[in-house]
Amino acid sequence: MTDEIKKGLLGIVVDETTISQVMPEINSLTYRGYAVQDLCEMCSFEEVAYLILNGNLPNGIQLNKFKKEEKENRNITTNMREIIKHIPKKAHPMDVSRTIVSVMGLEDKDTSDNSPKANMRKIMKIFAKTPTAIAAFFRIRKGKKIIKPKKELSFSENFFYMCFGKIPQKEIVKAFDVSLILYAEHSFNVSTFTARTITSSLSDIYSAITGAIASLKGPLHGGANEEVMNMMKKIKTPNKAKSWLIDNLNKKQVVMGFGHRVYKSGDSRVPTMKKYFLKVSKLKKDKNLYKISEIIEKEMIEKKNIHPNLDFPTGPTYHLMGFDTDFFTPIFVIARITGWSAHIIEQYASNKLIRPLSKYKGSDHRKVVLLNQR
Ligand code: ACO
Repeated sequence: MTDEIKKGLLGIVVDETTISQVMPEINSLTYRGYAVQDLCEMCSFEEVAYLILNGNLPNGIQLNKFKKEEKENRNITTNMREIIKHIPKKAHPMDVSRTIVSVMGLEDKDTSDNSPKANMRKIMKIFAKTPTAIAAFFRIRKGKKIIKPKKELSFSENFFYMCFGKIPQKEIVKAFDVSLILYAEHSFNVSTFTARTITSSLSDIYSAITGAIASLKGPLHGGANEEVMNMMKKIKTPNKAKSWLIDNLNKKQVVMGFGHRVYKSGDSRVPTMKKYFLKVSKLKKDKNLYKISEIIEKEMIEKKNIHPNLDFPTGPTYHLMGFDTDFFTPIFVIARITGWSAHIIEQYASNKLIRPLSKYKGSDHRKVVLLNQR
């Protein structure tokens, strides 16, 4: 045992995983051995969700069964709808996301059954119902009626439909699907590690995912995609981008959507998402945000040698698709439920209570003095 402190567990390997890895030989994030950019071009989000949860890409029969189950689980209860209707409209949608998964745990009679079979059943419920509940809050807080899910639609089409009442062009749906694939999994990041830590005490899957959502909310993790958009709203036009950035760097402020604990010379997910950001910008005939992002990226690399992470192109892409800024991280939740769930399964299968040590630097031993003598 060593007394050396590794703040933020920097560089510490805490367990093994078979789910994902940044493979240096192809300089890319891989899910179960497949490069994410290949998955984005050749698969749907449902196929990738199946891969992450089950270990292999599905064949046609397996995929149809998976999609059927997902569709059959989309509806939320009347109780859940009533709860969503009564949530304060100003609540942050990430707090709402956290609450709805917690409510699902209250509604499920199998919550405490941690057997592999019950867990797969519960994962399918969380995976299928969370988008429905998030879309319900998206509408309710605008004073609009909740739209029920439609079984004939794909996962991504259905989310657009439940939020906006219509489905955009197929290229926009594809861009959204790609963003979900890229957001689906990334090894032992903060929220996944939170989920694994909660699981390690043999708590239940709803608790682990509720905790993971709480962890994802922070601006140093998933919350960064919202902060990227807030930054772009402040910059407004490409001609102000460079001066804004220099001013920000002079003030020693963190630029959201840049830097990464694992990638120090570029996030392998960014080129794919950037391609779809440009496609969506062209389809929407609005390249303002894309131009701003190009300038910020170039200057950040030149001045600080810090590269953008996935949140940088994703935030403005979601904005162009019509989503409210504070719904960007809940969309990340919808995707990452797959990765969290796979890690929870892995943790249960080979569990060891996660309990690190700390170096004590508080006061020396003291004697307690009674209240009237203090
Ligand atoms: N803007 C400005 N400077 C930065 C940034 C940034 N975005 N990121 C890192 N740096 C600087 C740090 O100030 C530090 O400089 P120093 O050595 O002079 O003190 C150096 O680069 C190393 O950065 P650390 O913060 O030590 O790197 P760490 O691995 O701990 O943090 C993190 C990674 C938290 C992602 C960080 O880069 C950051 O705060 N980025 C902005 C938030 C963000 O975009 N988060 C999303 C992460 S990806 C995701 O969740 C999908």
